[in-house]
This record gives sequence, structure tokens and C-alpha cells, in this order.
Amino acid sequence: MATAEQIKSLIRSHLSDDDDERFYSLALQVAAHEAQQGHGDLAHDIRDIVDKSRRARGGNVLLVKFPQDLAGMVLSEKSDTPVSALVLPDSLKERIRRIIHEHRQQAKLKNHGLSNRRKILLSGPPGTGKTMTARVLAHELRLPLHTIQVDKLVTKFMGETSAKLRQIFDLIRDEPGVYLFDEFDAIAGDRSLDNDVGEMRRVLNALLQFIEQDASDSLIVGATNNPALLDRALFRRFDDVLTYSAPDRDARRRLFENVLGTFKAGRLVWKKILDESEGLSHAEIDHACRDAIKEAILQDRKAVNTDVLAKTLRERRQTHQR
Ligand SMILES: Nc1ncnc2c1ncn2[C@@H]1O[C@H](COP(=O)(O)OP(=O)(O)OP(=O)(O)O)[C@@H](O)[C@H]1O
Ligand SMILES: [Mg+2]
Repeated sequence: MATAEQIKSLIRSHLSDDDDERFYSLALQVAAHEAQQGHGDLAHDIRDIVDKSRRARGGNVLLVKFPQDLAGMVLSEKSDTPVSALVLPDSLKERIRRIIHEHRQQAKLKNHGLSNRRKILLSGPPGTGKTMTARVLAHELRLPLHTIQVDKLVTKFMGETSAKLRQIFDLIRDEPGVYLFDEFDAIAGDRSLDNDVGEMRRVLNALLQFIEQDASDSLIVGATNNPALLDRALFRRFDDVLTYSAPDRDARRRLFENVLGTFKAGRLVWKKILDESEGLSHAEIDHACRDAIKEAILQDRKAVNTDVLAKTLRERRQTHQR
């Protein structure tokens, strides 16, 4: 049960002029306390009550305070990226929607002894929407997004990375959120590659165990550019593995329409633009569109024209090839 101190604080906060967030925060502390005592169901119910009330009042998600020494290694944000902003093949988008749907319906699944998909691995080349997907999940589920920069964690805490991972997984348990482990391969290199014996192996084993044991309400998302480096044992720990790739012609067209928005004149020569953007990632196309929009604004034009867009795309291609 909640401690006497917690109960008193809750009552005090309720009767005083504290804002709602203070009360919510106290209630979440009680939930965390209950989770630590092994009362997972009660913790879950309390968070649910807080969450519903906060949403009903149009409130926002609360960001957790990470321990000081993890500052710089964990970035927390509130996301406002809707699923509609993602340009992906239908099959992939469908799987993202399923993750969101199962999370929203987790109580129903739980009644039948099932759990929602919540350990997700995203793999694919740079700029194809992995980080963006984590943002979408956070926004759609009204959860905060915490990005753990795994490469920095490993370098900074060489020798004590496993201890740091434990702290992070404690937070994953106590503070519901989307936890994105970026540059996942920094930690999760193939154990048989034996490049950095000892430490890396220990870290990887610890990570595998933490992922396996995790039964929280949080979403754990790993992102990697380099799936070949990932250990097979790791794939098994994930409920879903989503593979991203550069956009095809059709996806590129949708992306242009999205990003150009009101700056798209009716008269763009699509063939030229789609040819010029062949092989570019979503992020590079996004960038080229914004460059073209800037030029239009500075030249007091209301829309982007084909030649300018073709030029900014060519510039991106040259950077890409370098
Ligand atoms: N599938 C997509 N649909 C729409 N926009 C996208 C998509 N992918 C990338 N973008 C645009 O490019 C930006 C960068 O993409 P993002 O950070 O998601 O790439 P990433 O796959 O995480 O790359 P990296 O491997 O380098 O981390 C996004 O903020 C968005 O503006
Ligand atoms: Mg990323």
C-alpha cells in the first residue's frame, strides 16, 4: 500500500490550490511505489485513472526526470506527429496501426491472458522514418518519448553500462512512455563477432535479459541502420520487426504533396521531379522541399516551381553521393 506520507501528500494537494499536474504527479508516485511492491495491476489501474483524467482535461503528458548522470544520454520530448504524416507502404503502416490499436485495447487482451505488442525493432537506412515512427507512437498513445542514445551510453559508461541499463529499465517500468533505443547496434552487435570481447558481451547479455523480463506498460523501440550486426537472439525478443526502405515513386509523390502543402502549384512536372528524386531517402526529399519553399518565400512567390525543386533535389543527390 501507499505510504502514510504519500496519502497525506495526496490529500494536501487535493485540498490546496495546487495545480492538477502536482496531484497527478503524486498519484503516479503512488503507482510507481505499488509497481515496486509487485502490485502491477494496482499500479496499472492508478496510471489509467490519471491518464484518463488528464486526457479529459486536455492536459499533456508529463516528462519524467532522469537521473543527472544520464543527462545528455536520454532526451525526453512530447511529440505531436500524427500517424497521417508518415509516408510508408500500406503494409508497414498497417502494422504501426496495429501496435497503436493493441496498446489502446490492452485491458481487453489482458483479460484473455494476452499482452499487446510493445517491444518493437525498426530497421532500415537513414532518413526513412524510424525515429519518426517512435514519435508517431508517442503522440498517438499520448505518451512521452524518451530517446536513449545507446552509442553515447556505451562510450561514457564503459564498464558500468549494465548498471545504467538497469536504471533505465527501472524507469521503463515505473514511468510509462515510448523508449527509443537509438543506434541499437552500438550495444547489440553480434556476440559471435567477438570484436570487443568482455564488456560488450556483458552489456548485450544484460540488455537481452532486461528486454526479456520487462513486463511494463511502456513501449520499447529499438532502431538500427544495420540489422546484419544484430544478434539473432535479439530478434526473438521483439514482438514485431519493421523494415524500412527508401521511398518508391508512388511514395515519393505522396511525400512531395505532404511536405509542399500549400506551396504546391497545380503545374509541377511530376515526371521530372520523380526522376530527380530517385534513390533519395524521405529525409532528403523533405529537406529538398523545404529548401525549395524557402526560395519561393524569399522570391515572394506563392508556390514552388519544377525547376527550383529539381535543383534542390539535385543538390541533395550530390550530398548523398558524397
Ligand atoms: N516515412 C516517412 N514519411 C514522412 N516523412 C519522413 C519519413 N521518413 C523520414 N521522414 C522525414 O525525415 C525526417 C528524418 O527522419 P527520421 O529521423 O525518422 O529518420 P531515421 O530513419 O530515424 O534515420 P536515422 O537512421 O538516420 O536515425 C523526419 O523528421 C521526417 O521529416
Ligand atoms: Mg533515427
